[in-house]
Amino acid sequence: MPRKIFLDCDPGHDDAIAILLALSSPSLSLLGISVVSGNQTLEKTARNALNVTRYLHSDVPIALGASKPLKRSRLNCGEIHGESGLDGFTFPEYDLQYEKRDAVTFLKDTLLSQDKVTVVTTGPMTNLASALLQYPEIIPHIEEIISMGGSTDKGNLTPYAEFNILADAEAAKICFDSKIPMRMVGLNVTRKALVLPEIVERMDKIKTHSSKMFVALMKFFNKTQKEVFGLDGGPLHDPLTIACLLDDKILHFEHMDVDVDISDSITYGQTRCKPNKESYIQVATGIDVNLFFDYIEKALRSC
Ligand code: BDR
Ligand code: CA
Repeated sequence: MPRKIFLDCDPGHDDAIAILLALSSPSLSLLGISVVSGNQTLEKTARNALNVTRYLHSDVPIALGASKPLKRSRLNCGEIHGESGLDGFTFPEYDLQYEKRDAVTFLKDTLLSQDKVTVVTTGPMTNLASALLQYPEIIPHIEEIISMGGSTDKGNLTPYAEFNILADAEAAKICFDSKIPMRMVGLNVTRKALVLPEIVERMDKIKTHSSKMFVALMKFFNKTQKEVFGLDGGPLHDPLTIACLLDDKILHFEHMDVDVDISDSITYGQTRCKPNKESYIQVATGIDVNLFFDYIEKALRSC
C-alpha cells in the first residue's frame, strides 16, 4: 500500500522538484496539494504548482491557502526564484483550475476521510497551523509532519533564521509545539544537497520530459543561488522531505526538542534544537548526498 501524503508548498524551484519526486514515486500516493504565499505571492505559487503537476500529467487537486502569515507582514523571495516564482522554464498554458475548497478546509476534509496521512510542508507553515487551530480533530489522522524548515545552526535569510520559519514563525511554533510526531529537515542538511554543475550535466543526459524541466529550472536556480549566497549549486532543500520517505538511508535523524523563536528580536524565526531522546520531534543531522541524487535521477528517468 503506498503511503498517503499531503503536500503544502510554495513553488519555488526546489518545491517543484519535491512535487516531481512525490508524483513519480510508486511508494507514495499524493492525495492533494495546498499552496501558500512564500517564495512568491499566493497567486504565483498556485500557478506554479498547477503548471508543474499538469506538466507531469497529474491532475492532483491544488487548493489555495494563506496569502499572508498569521501575524506578521508578507515575506517573498523573488531574488532567488524570480518574478514568477519559478523562472527558467516556460510551461504550456494550462487552465487555472483549482480545488473549490480553500486549503484549510481541503486539508481537513482529506485528513478526516483517511485513517492516517503524512503531511509534508515545504513552505511557511501558515496553512497547517490554521488547520490545527480550527480543526483539532484532524490531529489523530496525521501520521507525522515532515517539514523543510529551520536549522540546527545558521539561518539563510538572517544569521539565525531559515526562510520558511522566518516567513511565519508563529505558525511554525504552533506546528512544532503540537506534539504530533514530526521530522524537521533543516538547512544544516539541505545545504549539502547542492545541484553542482556536474549534477546538471548528469541530469541533462537523461533527455526525458521531466529532465528538461529539471535542467532549465536548475540553471536559473543555480545562477541566483550563486549571486545571492555565493553557492556553487542551488540546494535542493524541499525534495529531501519526500526523499526521506523513499529511503531511510538518505537522512539521519536524532530526537530533539525544538524551540521556535517568536520574540520581537533579531533571533525571530530561529529553531533552537536540543537533544532529547524522549522528544516527539526528530531533526535531520546527516545526509547521504549521492544516494539522494540517485533517487532524483531515478525520478527523472521515470517521467
Ligand atoms: C526554503 O525556502 C524556500 O526558498 C525554499 O523553497 C525552501 O523551502 C529554504 O530556506
Ligand atoms: Ca519551499
